[in-house]
Amino acid sequence: MSGSGPKSSGHMLNVMDASSWDDRYRDADLVWSAGPNAFVAEICAGFEPGRSIDLAAGEGRNALWLAEQGWDSTAVDFSAVAIDKARAIAERRGIEITTEVADLTTYEPTPGGYDLVVVAYLQLPDEQLTPILRRAAAAIAPGGHFVLVNHDLDNLEHGYGGPPRAEVLTTPEQVAAAVGDTLTVERAETVDRHVTTDDGDRVARDTIVVATA
Ligand SMILES: C[S@@+](CC[C@H](N)C(=O)[O-])C[C@H]1O[C@@H](n2cnc3c(N)ncnc32)[C@H](O)[C@@H]1O
Repeated sequence: MSGSGPKSSGHMLNVMDASSWDDRYRDADLVWSAGPNAFVAEICAGFEPGRSIDLAAGEGRNALWLAEQGWDSTAVDFSAVAIDKARAIAERRGIEITTEVADLTTYEPTPGGYDLVVVAYLQLPDEQLTPILRRAAAAIAPGGHFVLVNHDLDNLEHGYGGPPRAEVLTTPEQVAAAVGDTLTVERAETVDRHVTTDDGDRVARDTIVVATA
């Protein structure tokens, strides 16, 4: 997997490839929090557990939490280092998850194979993100759910942290349009995420989209 960057359509896209993510994950103990993203946890707590897949799962904070809630949980990421960390955490905590190292720009989750698809902070330009989200939507079984959380475009000017590049930020409308042909969009909005930093409390702006098959 190392070095296999996302495909570009005709011109070079300035996105991090798998080996750059591997380096980032190698550098630190945990890059993201140990617990789940608060929005993912709050939204998914209301769903009946079934088969879940977390696309761009990183170190697995959401996939691990879902498994603990009773989901048959799969974590996919193209960083082998991140997936190894997720597996090690699962083993340490006695949690069962399925893991896959795969590039989402070509990966097709089993159509209709999941009751929940989670996509959290996958930072890709729309031309790569939209096909991924379409395949994610197609992977959801009737009655199943789609949950996306990402750094919102509004974060660039009005929020804390996140990537400083507009092309990898999202709007609720953009994500809703990507999945709206297949799914019923229940919620599509930009929300505040409160962040505690060494310099005090800050507010980040996130896109949240929740949809049902
Ligand atoms: C900001 S991290 C978020 C990780 C995780 N979703 C979380 O919230 O903790 C973005 C993740 O997307 C993964 N990623 C980026 N492009 C990818 C691609 N084309 N295929 C698979 N994973 C990708 C990276 O390896 C990284 O783990």
